[in-house]
Amino acid sequence: MKPEIIITAKGHAGTMATLQSEFATHLLSEAPDRDAFLKKHSGTVRGLATFGPLAIDGKLMDALPKLEIISNFGVGVDAINLDDAKKRRIIVTNTPDVLNECVADTAIALVLNTLRKFPQSERHLRAGHWVARGAYPLTTSLGGKTLGVLGLGRIGEAVAKRAAACGMKIRYHNRNKKDVPYPYDPDPAALAKNSDVLMVVTPGGSETARLVNEKVLQALGPDGYLVNIARGSVVDEPVLLRYLQEKKIAGAGLDVYADEPRVPPEFFTLDNAVIFPHVASATVETRKAMGELQVENLRRHFAGKPVLTRVV
Ligand code: 8YV
Repeated sequence: MKPEIIITAKGHAGTMATLQSEFATHLLSEAPDRDAFLKKHSGTVRGLATFGPLAIDGKLMDALPKLEIISNFGVGVDAINLDDAKKRRIIVTNTPDVLNECVADTAIALVLNTLRKFPQSERHLRAGHWVARGAYPLTTSLGGKTLGVLGLGRIGEAVAKRAAACGMKIRYHNRNKKDVPYPYDPDPAALAKNSDVLMVVTPGGSETARLVNEKVLQALGPDGYLVNIARGSVVDEPVLLRYLQEKKIAGAGLDVYADEPRVPPEFFTLDNAVIFPHVASATVETRKAMGELQVENLRRHFAGKPVLTRVV
């Protein structure tokens, strides 16, 4: 008998196919009545394969009393209530490391695009302005500027390495100082004040909610840039929007938003923001590796072996 699992939403196609072939699967996102769906499977489902931002809380866990493991597609587990899982001795796994390089590539692409305004300059060409109005205005160099990494973990270090290759100086803030060659700032506002580009790479969740608030953006100042590849929840989005509109910061490069996929349309018309639709890990190779890790954790658990990448 194949172990029974619920897949929360349709995810990466290859991963879906593997999950469906190795497990008896039920798809939550297509259930017309969620409570009835959970009730129907409550006696048999032992695993959850989670995709996307659906909140996985104690109430949902209690609706599945046989639940043993939640295997998330993605490194960020902010949608899963880890305390609730721990209390119920439910294992939670994620997909760290396999996405570091791609996410760091996207982070540095946002730095390049935000300071150098490549998307805006391309729009200038496509609109015929090069001929009609002349050259695109001068932009800002990366070399010699300081990148402040808020959350210097494995992804943050991969971003720092790339930024250093572009001639940037690096500093950082974490809750705890690390043994790294970069200067440390004691809080996010101090880091913002000492940086030209504030790079947000923290985990999401309640502990980092609106860590980048008005005080931090004020400290970043009219010549400073914000890049966020972490979670929309880490930045006070309405304040960021106002700061961009009023040019109280120089610009922003964003891959993540408070309520994805709904991005406030005011961002669409800003000339000082470069906005990506949460694509940091979105390559064929990386998504395949993430899916393999997600499946392998489930496979190992149901074979009675320790999982590979346990969060709690
Ligand atoms: C993915 C991510 O976009 O790993 C994460 O935490 O945010 C991204 O890699 C997401 O998990 C895919 O749905």
